[in-house]
Amino acid sequence: MKFENGHYLLSGGINPLKLVEKYGSPLYVYEAETIERQYQRLKAAFQVEKLKISYACKALTNISILKFIKQLGSTIDCVSIQEVQMALRAGFAPVDVLYTPSGVHFSEIEEAVALGVRINLDNIPAIEKFGEIYPHIPICVRINPHIMAGGNLKTSVGHIDSKFGISYQQMPLVQGILETTGMKLEGLHMHTGSDILNPDAFIAGADVMLNLAKDYPDLDYIDFGSGFKVPYKPNDLETNIEELGEKLSAKFNTFCQEYGRAITMVFEPGKFLVSEAGSFLVTVNVVKHGVTTVFAGVDSGLNHLIRPMFYDAYHRISNLSNPEGKTQTYNVVGYICETDTFATKREIPEIAPGDVLCMHNAGAYCYSMASNYNSRLRPAEVLIYQGKDFLIRERETIEDLFKHQIDVF
Ligand code: LLP
Repeated sequence: MKFENGHYLLSGGINPLKLVEKYGSPLYVYEAETIERQYQRLKAAFQVEKLKISYACKALTNISILKFIKQLGSTIDCVSIQEVQMALRAGFAPVDVLYTPSGVHFSEIEEAVALGVRINLDNIPAIEKFGEIYPHIPICVRINPHIMAGGNLKTSVGHIDSKFGISYQQMPLVQGILETTGMKLEGLHMHTGSDILNPDAFIAGADVMLNLAKDYPDLDYIDFGSGFKVPYKPNDLETNIEELGEKLSAKFNTFCQEYGRAITMVFEPGKFLVSEAGSFLVTVNVVKHGVTTVFAGVDSGLNHLIRPMFYDAYHRISNLSNPEGKTQTYNVVGYICETDTFATKREIPEIAPGDVLCMHNAGAYCYSMASNYNSRLRPAEVLIYQGKDFLIRERETIEDLFKHQIDVF
């Protein structure tokens, strides 16, 4: 969303206030062209012979978004059997789906095998069992490179104490299973966290991966995960993707040349592709003057966008109804019976009841982490593409809340 001539406008010149009139509030809106721009930017940053961008769909799983990202040329990363089913329904070929589960029951891995997708395993017992049952199916292994990276502890997943991955020091155990069963290793995978600003964290991870790759001449791909930091605050920093691309591509190309390999480089971004593309539009119910704080209470809460409450995440907030008004200091809060504060002591152009506020960067991990807490309904979703708006998810109704309940009285 852009600010131009005193108005906030979505791509194609669409006025977000008109969308709220048409579809109601609160409302998630996504701009397809922003996703496309990010996809192309990422692709251009890495100069290697074979590159795959594999969308981490946990960020946002609406089927229209999945289909749009697929037609850009992306493959897809799924972390549950349900995400796999959604990816296949969106038209991804099974070979373009990487299933990266963590701590699932083996039966779920068997379901994924039956669907023909690529399998990425992250524990020794699962690899042992897989090798016994499916020695003919090549696997990918998720490596824990012992790297502490990411914006906060909750999303740092590549350090030595993380539940994710197999320590690179335990690879001899994996090698033993491969030798006994004859199973092939087709891929190596790592992912160390989210909101990683410093390109060096990726480079350090790549060193670990390339060092392991020396021992596997038949390796098809190395998946370097994701975690690229996107700007959330005004003038915020972001991962310098071009610098990272240059450094990592050089290292990767040297390795491929030196060892005579034609490995595919894979990244699996979530936020980088969809965060900026999303805007969450809410309406102000009440402006409440407390003793020390002015609260703007909106028609939403942690049930629709939990990142500020869960990770202390910052989402920029604009007043679309009064974009150039004099700013005042507000706590923007939700309607849930918990302390669901979207923003604390934030300078925002003067807010009145009925105003529409926009929470920016709401494409990744916002709708996908939404719930029905307080028996509230989840919002509708709209996609903007080529200057037109498309409803891509209906607003829930009270019937949705009763749908799977069984009344025994
Ligand atoms: N690959 C794997 C294996 C992942 O676990 C994740 C994210 C990604 C890729 C994509 O990472 P991204 O490019 O989006 O940073 N809910 C948190 C972020 C948790 C991410 C979990 N895994 C948030 O809202 O900040």
